[in-house]
Amino acid sequence: MTTSPNCKTVLVTGATGFIGSHTVVELLEAGYRVRMVDNLCNSEASVLERIERIAHEHLTHDPKRLGFWPVDVRDSQALEALLASEPIDGVIHFAGLKAVGESFSQAPNYWDNNVGGTMALTQAMAKAHVKRLVFSSSATVYGQAASLPVSEDAPTQVTNPYGRTKLVCEQFLTDWCHASGDGQVALLRYFNPVGAHPSALIGEAPRGVPNNLMPFVTQVAAGIRPALSIFGRDYPTRDGTCIRDYIHVSDLARGHVATMAAMLGLGPHAVTSPDIEPSTQNGPIQTLSGLTVMNFGTGQGVSVQELVDTFERVTGQRVPTLDAPRRQGDVAELYANPQRAHTLLNWRATQTLESMCRDAWAWQSSLP
Ligand code: NAD
Ligand code: UFG
Repeated sequence: MTTSPNCKTVLVTGATGFIGSHTVVELLEAGYRVRMVDNLCNSEASVLERIERIAHEHLTHDPKRLGFWPVDVRDSQALEALLASEPIDGVIHFAGLKAVGESFSQAPNYWDNNVGGTMALTQAMAKAHVKRLVFSSSATVYGQAASLPVSEDAPTQVTNPYGRTKLVCEQFLTDWCHASGDGQVALLRYFNPVGAHPSALIGEAPRGVPNNLMPFVTQVAAGIRPALSIFGRDYPTRDGTCIRDYIHVSDLARGHVATMAAMLGLGPHAVTSPDIEPSTQNGPIQTLSGLTVMNFGTGQGVSVQELVDTFERVTGQRVPTLDAPRRQGDVAELYANPQRAHTLLNWRATQTLESMCRDAWAWQSSLP
């Protein structure tokens, strides 16, 4: 495969992490050049080689389409050097700390990393005149939404330091975008990303005891942990357990490609490579300008019990459960209205809960 000299280059921070690594794969497959940045505080350098294995056919003729810098986003000088070394068309900013529980005891660290990192990145971008930024926000900014499915215009209410850092970054980037005049910022509010790449070469690799439901379920199924504690069976939901909107990480990754393409005024595929046909599946999309806030979810609410039942059915593995008290800070029910992303990007999540469970299990099973 040859690469057009016009090929667009995207800098991805947090690129060896769970969502970042899947997005790098989708960007390469869509024809972009990618510059990966990660300080490896919550991921392994070996992810780079796994991405290269998945995307090898896109890299064979031009290995320089992919580069990795083991840099901390708070290191503005290093970022400035990277941004000055070649033209960068846009940035997707995943780097950050994400454990809600840990964010209480490590609040200053969360502010420094998430807010300080975002500010340092934007300063470096401004010096290099890079004006397109996609930011990883979270559905946690809605708290317990008053009406469901929740739309982007719903009021925000955060209940933990992690959520506060995301909301403050959203507010800062809103001001940054308006101050810059011609800046383009997309604030993407993810619901619950799960699953793994179908190759089982990349996936979610939590360190220590998983905080999140799906990696805990897969570790119980693998026999690493004896049982899953179900945090609360007395919620006002159809089976008493909490309801969330689980989205396959590859769907989420494709949503980032669609967002970057819309910012660049391209179709959902970066048709900058002469050998990539514009997809006939994709209808017209709008070019994003200024500030855009979008939910990235499926729109389907799934209870904890339903997820466990589906996982057992799809994988044939047993997941013993224990009833446990409610977890502090959990909301009963949260799922997205994903219409805006569909209207603006012609993107929607397509993968089922079954494929999320299947791919998460294949990834877990591949681990030593
Ligand atoms: P992850 O921990 O797997 O990936 C984050 C990556 O950022 C890691 O590889 C880590 O090493 C890197 N990183 C952290 N601080 C850094 C710094 N200062 N400089 C450079 N690299 C740094 O997490 P993820 O699940 O891929 O999440 C990515 C983003 O999406 C995060 O900002 C997270 O808050 C947000 N998000 C995640 C979820 C979720 O459930 N996974 C939900 C909503 C939002
Ligand atoms: N749960 C259990 N047992 C567990 C783990 C989780 O019952 O061992 C339950 C939780 O109580 C909750 C549901 O499974 O009802 C989902 O919990 P997760 O921790 O997987 O996800 P959350 O919805 O709490 O939070 C996640 C991310 C946040 C992000 C948020 C956005 O962890 O970073 O989604 O909605 F902000």
